[in-house]
Amino acid sequence: MMATTIAGTMHAVGVTPKKPNSARQVELPKPSASAGLALMRVLEVGIDGTDTEINEGLYGEAPPGSNVLVIGHEALSLVEAVGDGVAGFQPGDLVVATVRRPDSCPNCQAGESDMCLSGNYTERGIKGAHGYMGQYYGEKPDFLVKIPPTMRDYAVLLEPLSIVEKATYQAWKIQERMLWQPKRAVVLGAGPIGILGTMLLRLKELEVHVYAKNPPESIQAQVITSTGADYHSVDDHPVTGLRDELGQIDFILEGTGNSVVAFQAMSQAGTNGVVCLTGVSAGNRSIQIPSDVINLQMVLGNRVVFGTVNANRRYFESGVRHFDEAERRWPGIWKRLITRRVPFAGFADALNRKPEDIKTLLIVSA
Ligand code: BGC
Ligand code: ZN
Repeated sequence: MMATTIAGTMHAVGVTPKKPNSARQVELPKPSASAGLALMRVLEVGIDGTDTEINEGLYGEAPPGSNVLVIGHEALSLVEAVGDGVAGFQPGDLVVATVRRPDSCPNCQAGESDMCLSGNYTERGIKGAHGYMGQYYGEKPDFLVKIPPTMRDYAVLLEPLSIVEKATYQAWKIQERMLWQPKRAVVLGAGPIGILGTMLLRLKELEVHVYAKNPPESIQAQVITSTGADYHSVDDHPVTGLRDELGQIDFILEGTGNSVVAFQAMSQAGTNGVVCLTGVSAGNRSIQIPSDVINLQMVLGNRVVFGTVNANRRYFESGVRHFDEAERRWPGIWKRLITRRVPFAGFADALNRKPEDIKTLLIVSA
């Protein structure tokens, strides 16, 4: 049940970090639009695997001095008020905020906190700073990305999109090391990362093959094939057979977060190919790997494997451009990725992942 708001306070969803199933409604002071800060009213928040893992007690760190962490790092909000000295934003603007906040390392100071060297960054809703799963939040304009009103219905997808924006940008950047004319890509996993990655790769006109556990008639498989990509179930197409099945694979996007799959993928990349790992495995698994084969292939085929985490503002901005491009190419596709909308009081249900979910939204205000 939603409690009535006490003046000056707001509702949010908080956890006690490291304590399983501790997600609950909390009352916190309502932030204000003080100097240099904008005040946002949250419309809706996307739920992702990290939120669920935090609620399982696997991950997450409260802000200093607090034993509660407000979760949520994918939010679409409206600017409610701006403090003195905030330029470029006005009440009524739609915004999405980035997640990571810089420390004093050179990368953070250069605007690349996603490449932080020292690890003392914070992440809103994840590590040492409250997130967006509440009625309001305050933020500096540097970390806010303005959203055109035409994108209201799906702009909440910008944060997960920013992750694959970075993944593909980095892969293409790495491949500037040679003449590279990629034709065929493999995507492993059909969660939001796999699906969003497939869309970006299709916009680049690559032939894309997605392998995942979802049944061929699933909504995930349907969205994927509607972009012109092929969808295969891993049950009849094991990852270890991909090269034999497809031939030269130029790019592999690993989006399952399963470390076994990640290592299997390494031996499947083609000559001069790249494997990009995006998933975090919170476990502690070890497996035997064919190290001679992987080593030989990596060397003889000039292959690269790289990992990527988080995304800075540049990738949110390229995501906004791709929102438009994909919407024109496949009208209505972004809205199809939002498969469940849950009212605020149902946050516990929203955090509970169901197989037919692509992106679940917690609706905070209208
Ligand atoms: C978020 C990233 C974040 C990562 C690790 C992901 O769910 O999308 O922005 O850096 O978790 O905390
Ligand atoms: Zn840093």
